[in-house]
Amino acid sequence: MDQIRIFSPATVANVSCGYDAMAFALDTLGDEMVIRKNDSGQVVITRVDGAELPFETNKNSAGVVASQMLTDAGSPFGVDIEIIKKYKPGSGLGSSAASSSGTAFAVNKFLDGKYSKLELLQFARLGEEVACGSPIADNVAAALYGGFVLIRSYDPLDIISIPTPSELVVTVIHPQIEVNTEDARKILPEQIPMKTAIAQWSNVGGLISGLHTADFDLIGRSLTDHVAEPHRKIFIPHFDQLKDNAMASGALGAGISGSGPSVFALSKGEDLAQKVASAWDEIYKNSGIDYKIYVSKINKNGVQILND
Ligand code: HSE
Repeated sequence: MDQIRIFSPATVANVSCGYDAMAFALDTLGDEMVIRKNDSGQVVITRVDGAELPFETNKNSAGVVASQMLTDAGSPFGVDIEIIKKYKPGSGLGSSAASSSGTAFAVNKFLDGKYSKLELLQFARLGEEVACGSPIADNVAAALYGGFVLIRSYDPLDIISIPTPSELVVTVIHPQIEVNTEDARKILPEQIPMKTAIAQWSNVGGLISGLHTADFDLIGRSLTDHVAEPHRKIFIPHFDQLKDNAMASGALGAGISGSGPSVFALSKGEDLAQKVASAWDEIYKNSGIDYKIYVSKINKNGVQILND
């Protein structure tokens, strides 16, 4: 195999209560990439569609991941990388993670599956470091593993896959403004009161338990963020209204997707998720802000090979 075309899913990190520790992948939104072996031994970004991304290998998340993997493996061949972005970077939907994870997955195929999933995740984190200044694992883990993931520990890295109740559907609104992840991280306090920490980790426990038992009420009760949302919601026009209307439409819960500006809501079943989408459309349609709304099932597979 000399060429591989893949789908790499968009991801929702944090899932309200799990700042830097939880994420899930989307089924209907993600990037396409074509990765081809070359004889030059170099990593070359040959095409970027749908976004302005650097072509310099060492500044591009996909480029950095591929270079590091091929060097580590002592590979004689290089790769050409085409990135076809279906949504904008700076969305809070794991745009750089889709490129990093997709690259790690594809290059590993050319290396005959030399690396484990956890090792691929370590390589993919290098791409996150380039894109947002920190080797955050949540988005890349969801993109590689699919479904819901918990980063139980960063050192050593320990990723837990959490079951996904099949009726769970996500609605996402992506206001077409860019929020820089680095800025959205800097705005957060370095310390939080013990009371806040207790409320937060209790909800993480509740969410994990709710996902395991398909207890939708418990999932909903646990989708509360005491740590990041209170500080970050100022970046998102009409955030409180989006959240209130999602709940009024029957969503289980709603919050900021990753570092924003996208907002997500989880619902039980497609009908309620579509109701949330309509409610959000009403809020944004006269706002003067461009936006996109997606309704998607949870992607249980992560990065996938596309057949030509
Ligand atoms: N967990 C990260 C954050 C995700 O919230 O900053 C970045 O999209």
